[in-house]
Amino acid sequence: MSDFSDRPVPASAADAAALPAWRIDQNALNRMLDAGAARHWRVEVVDETGSTNADLTQACRAATWDEDDVRVRVAYRQTAGRGRQGRPWQGQAGLTFSVAMPLALPPARLSGLSLAVGLAVAEALEQCDAALGARIGLKWPNDLQIDGRKLAGILIESVPAGPQRLWAVIGIGLNLVRDARMEAALGRALAGVAEAMTPFDAQRDPTRILGAVLERLACMRTRFVADGFAPLAQAWSARDAYRDEPVRLLHDGAVLAEGVARGVDAEGHLLLETAAGLERIASGEVSLRGAGA
Ligand code: ATP
Ligand code: BTN
Repeated sequence: MSDFSDRPVPASAADAAALPAWRIDQNALNRMLDAGAARHWRVEVVDETGSTNADLTQACRAATWDEDDVRVRVAYRQTAGRGRQGRPWQGQAGLTFSVAMPLALPPARLSGLSLAVGLAVAEALEQCDAALGARIGLKWPNDLQIDGRKLAGILIESVPAGPQRLWAVIGIGLNLVRDARMEAALGRALAGVAEAMTPFDAQRDPTRILGAVLERLACMRTRFVADGFAPLAQAWSARDAYRDEPVRLLHDGAVLAEGVARGVDAEGHLLLETAAGLERIASGEVSLRGAGA
């Protein structure tokens, strides 16, 4: 694995561009969803909000838990988009949305959900465009990458609703284009759907992608509630970008552990081969990096 992912790219990079104005075609989206597993999901699209995750988390706290009531909130602009570990999320180059998913599970059974969501998003993108799908790697616990550059991030927050019930508020930020200004601001090379999809149609593809992701998430939900992450572990591993690579685990910039990534177990824990033996790491507040990064 190269250390390219941590090198800022010049703003003039040929494939880095601003995203043209785009809109979700709600009629087309409804037609896509109508025939599938997400057909009863309520989708709301707003111009601007603070954070779709914050909105749905708050809505769940005030709602009565109902297994069939799945809400989706898409925002063209978030003024306080949030990422993992309290970091801000910049959404101007992409699709930002959240799904409030009622799950008849205790919190302990959520282990592996973030990996299952990452896999569902990767499979949806592959369904939209095979060439794009072929380039996507998964970074434990829940990032999507192209060539070590971040394509999408996932933030899952849970709202308890009883001993065997909760909502998982699943937030997804997917970069549609590789945005030079954002790369400069973050000091990171990023990825965008458009660089791998030929041609990317900014008017049509966000709707197609959203529809495909929602459908995959709906199928994943049924399997996950029944059997957890275990049946998905093999498919996740097939897309693992760091399998058998030397890696470091960081928290707040400090190195917590170093070793060779050996895939994931049936609960979605990272298997890290260290000098002291094989360790199982729960996702929590840690970030994985290639050893060279
Ligand atoms: P994680 O800890 O979730 O695994 P990371 O820090 O390893 O992520 P990097 O690609 O190394 O991911 O760094 C990207 C940083 O920029 C992250 O802190 C991420 O949250 C932040 N960021 C903000 N907006 C975006 C965006 N639109 N695309 C990618 N990264 C973003
Ligand atoms: C990460 O990689 O740090 C997770 C990023 C998650 C961003 C999405 S954008 C839609 C939803 N609303 C938010 O405020 N965050 C998530």
